[in-house]
Amino acid sequence: MRVDVNGRPFEEEPRPGQCLRTYLRERGWFGVKKGCDAGDCGACTVHVDGEPVHSCLYPAFRADGRSVTTVEGLATPDGELHPVQRKFLDAQGFQCGFCTAGFMMTTAALDDGQLADLPRAFKGNLCRCTGYRAIEDAVRGVRHAEAPDSGESVGRNLPAPAGPQVVTGTARYTFDIDVPGLLHMKLLRSPHAHARITAVDTSAALRVPGVHAVLTHHDAPERHFSTARHERATEDPDDTRVLDDTVRYIGQRVAAVVADSEAAAEEGCRRVEVTYEVLPAVLDPEEAMRPGAPVVHDKDAATARISRPYDNVVGEAHGEIGDVEAGFAEADEVYEGVYRTQRVQHASLETHGAVAWLEDGDRLHVRSSTQTPFLTRRALCALYDLPHDRVRVVAGRVGGGFGGKQEMLVEDVVALAVLRLRRPVKLEYTRAEQFHGATTRHPFTIRVKAGARLDGRLTALQLRVVSDTGAYGNHGPAVMFHSVGESMAVYRAPHKKVDAFSVYTHTVPAGAFRGYGLGQVMFATESALDELARRLGMDSLEFKARNVIGPDEPMVTADGEEEDLHIASYGLDQCLGIVRRAEAQPADAVGEPAPDGWLVGEGAALAMIATGPPGGHIADVKAALLPDGTFDLAVGTAEFGNGTTTVHRQIAAGELGTTVDRITVRQSDTDIVRHDTGAFASTGVVVAGKATLRASRALADLLLDFAAAHLRTDRSGCRLTEEAVLHPGGRLPLKEMYDAARAVGVSFASDGHFGGTPRSVAFNAQWFRLAVDPGTGEIRILRSVHAADAGTVMNPMQCRGQIEGGIAQGLGATLFENVRIDAHGAVETAAFRRYRLPQYADVPRTEVHFMETADAIGPLGAKSMSESPFNPVAPAFANALRDATGVRFTRLPLTRDRVWLALREAGVGVTDRSRTEQRGPGSSP
Ligand code: FES
Repeated sequence: MRVDVNGRPFEEEPRPGQCLRTYLRERGWFGVKKGCDAGDCGACTVHVDGEPVHSCLYPAFRADGRSVTTVEGLATPDGELHPVQRKFLDAQGFQCGFCTAGFMMTTAALDDGQLADLPRAFKGNLCRCTGYRAIEDAVRGVRHAEAPDSGESVGRNLPAPAGPQVVTGTARYTFDIDVPGLLHMKLLRSPHAHARITAVDTSAALRVPGVHAVLTHHDAPERHFSTARHERATEDPDDTRVLDDTVRYIGQRVAAVVADSEAAAEEGCRRVEVTYEVLPAVLDPEEAMRPGAPVVHDKDAATARISRPYDNVVGEAHGEIGDVEAGFAEADEVYEGVYRTQRVQHASLETHGAVAWLEDGDRLHVRSSTQTPFLTRRALCALYDLPHDRVRVVAGRVGGGFGGKQEMLVEDVVALAVLRLRRPVKLEYTRAEQFHGATTRHPFTIRVKAGARLDGRLTALQLRVVSDTGAYGNHGPAVMFHSVGESMAVYRAPHKKVDAFSVYTHTVPAGAFRGYGLGQVMFATESALDELARRLGMDSLEFKARNVIGPDEPMVTADGEEEDLHIASYGLDQCLGIVRRAEAQPADAVGEPAPDGWLVGEGAALAMIATGPPGGHIADVKAALLPDGTFDLAVGTAEFGNGTTTVHRQIAAGELGTTVDRITVRQSDTDIVRHDTGAFASTGVVVAGKATLRASRALADLLLDFAAAHLRTDRSGCRLTEEAVLHPGGRLPLKEMYDAARAVGVSFASDGHFGGTPRSVAFNAQWFRLAVDPGTGEIRILRSVHAADAGTVMNPMQCRGQIEGGIAQGLGATLFENVRIDAHGAVETAAFRRYRLPQYADVPRTEVHFMETADAIGPLGAKSMSESPFNPVAPAFANALRDATGVRFTRLPLTRDRVWLALREAGVGVTDRSRTEQRGPGSSP
């Protein structure tokens, strides 16, 4: 076969059945990404003779005699960007960037007619991060990014430093490297929801040519651990083994086969003979708590840190302030409802995976798609009894996380193989494995009861929460605790009570997910309070405004006051003001018109979130002057599309009086700083950014002190500028300072540290106007408005992108995303074709407004804004749907068929809005 790739000829035969994607990647064209290998996501899009194709579906042999262009071939040979690449750079039309090559290749092949219909043109491309607005802006030629080489840094739309690499396909994600002598791992997974492994015969698998090892529970450490990663490991139950002799969900690892090729490893998996003693399974958390239910983990409660193992309760919380029954007795109106949320998958386009090898003889080097390299190193050291200096964990650019990579799901078993075989080993999950073997959002059932007086004052608020953590506890207890924290604290009620349970079942484990439980509980509380307001005959927003926490009040949950949590800035009143303004604007003046005969409604919800996790979150940063007079910034936190690298450069540039293009950021490598808890809980800016601020400020002090001493002048007369220290007698170039300091044995390097406490809170409010077709259940979003209190907005373009992405992900979880489990416990929806993600056509543009606040705790007044935009989306949507139809929807997702059925059952088939308003208290499907 002869194929021309980006102008270079290749004369190598593909393997039988090989697709073009792997053929290209094996020849170094790493810009061609794997998102699904099923033609659903478009991350692998390339041009064959100018036509865009999904290279994962395109047989490599069909490229014989043809010309293939990948993203690396879009630019001219002398490096001039293709107009589409330039546009994506100017608009910053990406976050993690894993989908970007695919979108650009699709865009580059569009004609004018196709460009006019982007929803159709982008049917074959998915983005999980951006919410698509930035992509649309890129295609339309909107420029957002400002030039990085002049002016102030903070508060400007400065571009991501990795942008040029993202748009040229040269950004290096986990597997975008060549590792000589690499072996491939595949996992054999359990077909049973609950079984004991009584025998494993690996002999046939070991006879498969190319197979090097078959690892089973006999090879794994006895030690139990948690896959969840937290600064305090004691937050999570130790209930997991690398490979276990009991399987507790369909899809759990049974054996790992390591071979010369993926095909040989897969064949090895097929040849492993496992004998199971099948045990009874329990799939429902309420059933799991009943006496006599099958026990998921028969472990010692104290050593495994499981609350009540024989009741399948891994964690529980019970708290009451005041007397909730007395509070309900005082109320003029009481509402009680049961709300249910479903399993949702993170669906980051880059799947989980790691590649590891031994460097310098016996030092384990792990390159992983992780949000927590330092905590992963800590866990590997504990698991294999290795000192910290014998393990290095590095994250390349991470292709999306959303909490799913705050977990050690692959590194443990890859390390086991590398330590055993002393050869490099790679494990890369398929898209199906993401559904069968990674984690999901916790499905919740929430009983909420709320009472209020006729004057609109809440008297009591009570929650009973049951969270299904699946077969392993990982984040279960922590998610449960967090879910009933800020969701309750944001409302001032004299009587509050919570009973919450995190429960084991024999299903795929749940884990950390954007919002960390708040989204589920806020769906219930924000819907319930909307309903209560209606029953009181009050405007819902007015009712909430009367009861929300004020700027000087303590954070009170049902457990009492959260002591390290403060309102260090308060923009909730402004958020509510934005929503009120949207409500007041005439429908025919702003937003899309409703189709004739459709029901129209409006609804809102608010959200509060702590700007970091409880119990501390550590970040260390080093800042240094380099010999050429530029700066080096070493940070531990990972970049996975959240934009922290950009903000860290902005913070450092501001402190050092220079421009962002003179600062190089190195990150997410356990060798470069002492410690970093990780890129989760929205801490990238507020925690790691604060350490960056301190390191940069300390370096600025060092430079000014040295300059003053060196020049024998008063320090107050010295000032840092872009390339020099300005002083009364002129300017001292930083380059010269470096040499002068070195001559006397001084180096310009400083450390910054922040422990993540105290914490502040951020606020959000979401408002929708919807139209509903009662004849079909179809819903259209006519207008979407979001208010965000992010404190000082460090980079409005980037922060808006986070919010838009959060809203899009929230809409997916509201409308159709659902990891369905069948009657045996197996995941039914293990492909994007069966698990529908929001596509370009599904996501409307949202008007995003920033509040004017400055936080007293966050760096330069900033607050977090990665998770919280997600949380109010579902209840705002459900409240608008209630407003339109009179029906209170209490179960997610709000699929079209479910909406249609509920409307039919409630007799809502009329198109006269006044009829639905006369229906009174909402009926609940
Ligand atoms: Fe599109 Fe991350 S930027 S998937």
